[in-house]
Amino acid sequence: MTKLLQFPENFKWGTATASYQVEGGVYEDGKGESIWDVFSHTPGRVINNENADVACDHYHLWQQDINLMKSLGYKSYRFSLSWPRIFPDGVGRINQAGLDFYSKLIDALLEAGIEPFVTLYHWDLPSALPGAWLNRAIVEAFADYSGTVIKAFGDRVKTWFTINEPLCASHLSYSWGEHAPGLNDLSKGLLAAHHLLLAHGKAVQEVRSAWKDAQVGIVLNMSCVNNDPDAPVSEDIIRHIDGETNRWFIDPIYGRGYPQDMLEDYVKMGALGSISPDFIKPGDMALIAQPTDLLGINYYTRIFVSTPPEDQRETHKFVRKQFPPEQITEMDWEVYPQGFFDILERVHQDYHPKQIMVTENGASYSDGPDESGKVHDQRRIEYFQTHLQALWQAIQAGVPVTAYIAWSLMDNFEWARGYAQRFGLIFIDYATLKRIPKDSAYWYAEVIIRNGIFESKQE
Ligand code: GCO
Repeated sequence: MTKLLQFPENFKWGTATASYQVEGGVYEDGKGESIWDVFSHTPGRVINNENADVACDHYHLWQQDINLMKSLGYKSYRFSLSWPRIFPDGVGRINQAGLDFYSKLIDALLEAGIEPFVTLYHWDLPSALPGAWLNRAIVEAFADYSGTVIKAFGDRVKTWFTINEPLCASHLSYSWGEHAPGLNDLSKGLLAAHHLLLAHGKAVQEVRSAWKDAQVGIVLNMSCVNNDPDAPVSEDIIRHIDGETNRWFIDPIYGRGYPQDMLEDYVKMGALGSISPDFIKPGDMALIAQPTDLLGINYYTRIFVSTPPEDQRETHKFVRKQFPPEQITEMDWEVYPQGFFDILERVHQDYHPKQIMVTENGASYSDGPDESGKVHDQRRIEYFQTHLQALWQAIQAGVPVTAYIAWSLMDNFEWARGYAQRFGLIFIDYATLKRIPKDSAYWYAEVIIRNGIFESKQE
C-alpha cells in the first residue's frame, strides 16, 4: 500500500496568476499604460518581441477561467490587481471601470466557492509615475492606490499580499536589466528595493486601518545558495549571494535592518556611498518592519554556485552550475525539491513567521495537446509530486505552512521569456485562446480532494 501523506486540516490549495501575465485588454476601458506595456513594446526586450496585449485574454474570459477552477475543485486563487487599470495616471483620478472589473471577479470567485488572495503589486506599475521605483514619492502613491483597493474589496478579500518578489522588482529590473524598466545600475536597484519595502510597510498599515479581520504579508522569492562540492567557490561568495537574494529582503521585514555584511559589500562595490545610505530616513526601518500575519514564499529552484571554467575566470568570480537536460525545466532551472524543504526550514528557524503561505511553485514544460487533444505533462506532475512531498516533510518538521498555491493556473506571458515558457496547469492555445486542462490539472484536483499526496510517484 502506498502511504497517503496527509496535509493539515483546513490547508489551503490554490493556483496563481498575475495581471499583466494573463489579462490582456491593456488599452481597454480606461486602463493606463504600465511600465511592462512600454518595455514589451521596446524591440529586443522580450524574446521574439512578444507582448501581453492579449495574453490569455483573461480580461474577457475571466468567467470561463473561474468556471474551470470550480470544475477542477481549486479552492483559492491568488491574482494581482493592475494598478494602472485603477489609477491610469498612477495617482489622482480613479478609473471606476477598473475597480468594477476586479469587483465582479471577486464576487464571481466567492460565488464559485473560491477564496480570493490578492497581490497588490505584481510589477505592472503605471508608466505615468515619474522615476518609477527610484522616486521616493512612489511610496505615497502606492499607499493611496493600495488604500483605495483595500477599502473597496476588503469586505470580501481577507488575504492580502503587498509586493510580489521585491528582489525581481528591484535588482532584476534596475540592476540587471532583464525586467522593466531595464536598467543596469546596482545603486538604483538598492534604491528601488528600499522604496518597494517602504511601500510594503504602507500597505500593511492600510490593511490594519481598514479591516480588523484581514491578514497581510509580503511575497519573497527565496532560494538556498549551495556551493558546488566539486568546484567550490569561496564561502564569502556564497555569503554575498545569499545576502543579496534572501537576507537583504527578509531581514528588514523581520526588524533586523539591512544586513551589515551586505552594506559593507555594497559600499566596497561603490553601489552605496556609506553604510547608512542617505535614502534611509528616520522611521523607515520601523515602517518596513510592521508586524505581518504571514510570509508568502515563492520557490522554484536553488542557487548552485560553481567556480567558472578557466577561460571565464578573468571576468567571473562564480557561475551558476549547469545541469543535464533531465534535471532541469525549460527555464533551465534545476529541479531540486530538497531546496524547498531547506528554505522553508531555514526561514522558520531563523525568522519564526507566524504563518507561511507557499505563494508560488511550479515548472515550465512546453508539452502541448496530442492528436486526441490531451496534454500529457508528466514531468510537471513529477515536479509537483516531489515538491509537495518536500513541503509535507517541512510541515512535519514544524514549519507553519498553511497554503500551497501552484504557479500557474494557466500558461501565460512569462515576462522577458515571452510565451514559449509554459507554467500552466491549463494549456492556452494562443491562436484560439482555447483552454485545455493538462494532465497535471486533473492530478492536482485529486490532491485537493484527498488533501494529500501518495508517497510514491505512481499516482
Ligand atoms: C515571479 C513571478 C511569476 C513568474 C514565475 C515563473 O514571481 O517571477 O511571480 O510572475 O511567472 O515566477 O518565473
